[in-house]
Formats: sequence, structure tokens, C-alpha cells
Amino acid sequence: MSEETNLQSAKVVAIVGGGLGGALCACFFAKHGIHVHLFELRPDIRTQKVVKGRSINMALSRRGRDALAYVDCETTIVNNGIAMRARMIHDLDCTKHSIPYGTRPDHEILSIDRRILNELLLTEASHRPNINIHFQHKFVGWDEDNKIASFDDASGNRVEFSADAVIGYDGCHSAVRTAMMKTDAINVTQEYFDTYYMEFCISPQSNQFAMEPNYLHIWPRHQFMLIALPNQDMSFTTTLFLPISMFRKLKTADDVLNFFGQYFPDAVSFIGTKEIVETFFSSKPQPLITTKCEPHATYRGDMLLMGDAAHSMAPFYAQGMNSAFEDCIVLFDKLRENNFDLPKAFASYNDTRVRDTHAIVDLSMYNHREMTHLVTLRSFHWRKKIDNFLYRLFPHWWIPLYTMVTFTRIPYHQCMTLRQRQDRTLQIARRIGYTLVGFLVARRFVWNTIKPFVVQFIADEVLPRLEIKK
Ligand SMILES: Cc1cc2nc3c(=O)[nH]c(=O)nc-3n(C[C@H](O)[C@H](O)[C@H](O)COP(=O)(O)OP(=O)(O)OC[C@H]3O[C@@H](n4cnc5c(N)ncnc54)[C@H](O)[C@@H]3O)c2cc1C
Ligand SMILES: *[C@@H]1O[C@H](CO)[C@@H](O)[C@H](O)[C@H]1NC(C)=O
Ligand SMILES: *[C@@H]1O[C@H](CO)[C@@H](O)[C@H](O)[C@H]1NC(C)=O
Repeated sequence: MSEETNLQSAKVVAIVGGGLGGALCACFFAKHGIHVHLFELRPDIRTQKVVKGRSINMALSRRGRDALAYVDCETTIVNNGIAMRARMIHDLDCTKHSIPYGTRPDHEILSIDRRILNELLLTEASHRPNINIHFQHKFVGWDEDNKIASFDDASGNRVEFSADAVIGYDGCHSAVRTAMMKTDAINVTQEYFDTYYMEFCISPQSNQFAMEPNYLHIWPRHQFMLIALPNQDMSFTTTLFLPISMFRKLKTADDVLNFFGQYFPDAVSFIGTKEIVETFFSSKPQPLITTKCEPHATYRGDMLLMGDAAHSMAPFYAQGMNSAFEDCIVLFDKLRENNFDLPKAFASYNDTRVRDTHAIVDLSMYNHREMTHLVTLRSFHWRKKIDNFLYRLFPHWWIPLYTMVTFTRIPYHQCMTLRQRQDRTLQIARRIGYTLVGFLVARRFVWNTIKPFVVQFIADEVLPRLEIKK
């Protein structure tokens, strides 16, 4: 380690964005002895007031956990979360049933408060001597000839830092991406969904969880849904995903309560009617944005986009943060392969990561349909049974899509092609099945039709001749 540290110690990297991905990525560089300046637009959230019941929960799974383990943070983070082992589906008539996420005991995802997670990662970063964190520094530009990044600080002064490279981990409205587009041709597509979201809170009831804690609760209603994730303080962060046109139709307290009463009757009693109305009229529906961009790196190899800045997605596969964390693992694989040559590693990262991030953006959209609608269909449960059965028989050959995405590190685009292959196999199996049944039915029909003639023929022609022979 010490030799490597000496080799790398001359390098300086500027990471823009001290959110989830940026803070973790800083720890990756620090582990390999590379100096990092981490710049965050907002003040230090660890010193800010806590707003209760106003926190997004993150579902952390394999890819994210492996990245945390790389910098020895996994245990700390996992200790601050709650395991979820299955989906709990709430039907209209208030009956419930659960659908396990996987087939093995370690197939669980972890619910963790976004703010706690961000605070823990910033604390980890601040403990490492070769990371300098600069809060209230807004990225404004990169001078690629002199390798100088500039920022506006809290008092509005322009400040400059030299660095070998800039990494944009600054979220879906990335300023680094905008800067890259001034020097390089970068294709960006951005889409806003019709579906927006709003958060509610299910508080603890007599010091207990209001519902079973180790589940991700879902109220699927085809065009929209409500979900709830457990917190360690025994509350549930509850999110309504609803088309904006329907949000706009709910104008009065009665509209809102009728809507909730009609579609989520049991949730109404958990959240409370007063709280529903208060929250609904004091908050604004939030949009969901997907972003794809290509390439993720500049040709000079001095700028790189990671996390939401490169690939923001719908939250329905719970892979936004997990993929933002996995980006670090992929980048450091490339850095090690290229002896920590930044431009070479950035180019190599861009070569493989773009198609994987495009794939997870598309898969996240697919999972919206699965969560809101498909889980209510009988065919979905049959497919799940077949998948799990084949997975048990051939654990390396037939892995269900959800398992691949959530509990393995199989590259996302490969998850997609493997699933397409499974679909084709099942389609062929179904055709063969139909053909076989058709053949049996047809054979029976043909036999029944010709049987009298055959019997007659034997009686008239074959038997007499046999007799003659005898
Ligand atoms: C409702 C919802 C639920 C979600 N649930 C999940 C889930 O269960 N699991 C999951 O894996 N993902 C989930 N996600 C996605 C996840 O939140 C993001 O993918 C993740 O936060 C991306 O991390 P990031 O570091 O790239 O960006 P962010 O965490 O957004 O951080 C970007 C940082 O950059 C800073 N910044 C912005 N501009 C500048 C600038 N000019 N200069 C300096 N700093 C700047 C911002 O202040 C911010 O701190 C969810 C998202 C939403 C909206
Ligand atoms: C941008 O998109 C166009 C049209 O699809 C394509 O021809 C071009 O190669 C893309 N450029 C990059 C840098 O990916
Ligand atoms: C990024 O990767 C794509 C292939 O995925 C390649 O066509 C493109 O030239 C690469 N761009 C850079 C800047 O490395």
C-alpha cells in the first residue's frame, strides 16, 4: 500500500457533489492514496436541523453494498438500516399477501434513511486525511487547458482549484455535464414521467411499527401506487406515485380523503386523515426524471460523469443509488487495470459503462409496470413460480431478472439479454407444449374417425387372408 500511495500521491482529483455517490467515490480515491477535493453546493447536512417525517428512504442492495464494503463502510451502514425480505401487497379489500424478493435467506434489501446514509458517508470521508471537503461551493466551470476548476463559495466569491481531473457526481441537473457539453459532443436525453411523487409518514402506533416491519409495503392500483418503507424509529416513509393529471384533480380535502379512502383504505388509518390532508396541501408533487447521456467521459480524459449526473432513473427498481455506487467499483477496476492512468481509465470506463447504465434506466421503467400492475395479475405469479423453480434446479443458468439486478453484480445490459433469452426459451417451450397437445388431440381425432374403416378393412381383407394362410 505504501509504495502505491507514493506513486499516486502526486495526483489530485476534484469531485463535484457531496451527495451519496460523491462522498463514497472520495473514499475510494483516498483508499488508493489519491488526494481528493470534494465540493458540495449545500451546507454540511450534519449541522442542519432534522425535519421529521420528510426523508426519502433508500433501498440498498448487492451492488451498493459491495461498493460500501470496498471502503470498509458496509457494516456501519447496514447497522443503520432495516432488512426487507419481501413485498407486502395490500389489496383493495385490505387483505394482504407477501411475495419474497428472492429464494435465499441473504436475498434481502435494506431500507435506510437517505439523510442518515449521506451523513455517515460524509463522516467517513472527513475521517480520511487525503480528502478535503468544501461545503457551499458551487461548481461553475473547468479550464481544460490549465486544469483549473472554479466555484462560487458561500460569500459569492469565485475560487479556483487545480486538479488532474474533475468528476461530476452532481445529480441529474449536473453542472459538470453542462461544462463538458461546451467542449465535447455529448448526447443527452432527458424525460419527465407523467407520474409524480409525494411523501407521507406512517408514525409508530403505541411505540410499535404500525405494520410488519421487514417488508416493502405496496398498494398497487394499476395506474398508480402507494409504497411504504420501514425506518429504525418505527415509522414508515410512505410515497404516493400518481399521474400528475390525477394529482391536479384532487383540489379539496374531501377529494383527497375520498381518493385515499377508495384506493388505500387501510393506509388511511395508519397515516391519519388529518395528516394526509396537511401533508397533501403543504407539499408539492415531485417530478421523476430519467437521463441518459453518451459518452460519460471527455476525449481528453479530464472529465467524467458518474451517478445521477450520467444516468438518473425512475426509482422503481431501487437502483439509482446502487448503480451510482457500483460506478465506483467499475471505475476502480479500470484504474487498477490502467495503473491509475486517469485518462486511460476514464476512456475504458466509458467504453463499458454507458450501455450498462442505459440498460438499468430502461429496466427501471419496466419495473414501474411490474409494481403498479403486473403484480396484480395471475400470470405474473405463474412466471415467478416457473422462474424460481428453474432457478432452484439450475442456479447458474436460470436466474430471475429481479434476482440478477438486485442480488448479483452481473452487468445490467447482460441482465437484460439473459432475461430476453429466458423469455424466448419459455416462448419456445410454450410452442412445443401447444404443438404436442395439438398433435395428441389431432391423433385421437384422426384415429376415432378412421377407426371404423380400419376395423372393417381388417375384418374384410386381412383376417380372411390370414385365415387362408393358416
Ligand atoms: C423518490 C425517490 C426514491 C428513490 N429510491 C431509491 C432507492 O430505493 N434505491 C436506490 O438505489 N436509489 C433510489 N433513488 C435514486 C437515488 O436517490 C439517486 O440515484 C442517488 O441519490 C444518486 O446519487 P448521486 O450522488 O449521483 O446524486 P445526489 O445524491 O443527487 O447528489 C448530488 C449532489 O450534488 C450537489 N450539487 C448539485 N449541483 C452542484 C454544483 N453545481 N456544485 C456542487 N455541488 C452540486 C447536490 O447538492 C447533491 O448533494 C430514489 C430517488 C427518488 C427521487
Ligand atoms: C448522438 O446521436 C446521434 C443520433 O442518434 C448519433 O449519430 C451520434 O453518433 C451520437 N453521438 C455520440 C457522441 O454518441
Ligand atoms: C465512449 O464509449 C463509446 C462506446 O460505448 C465510444 O463509441 C466512444 O468513442 C467513447 N467516447 C470516449 C470519449 O471515450
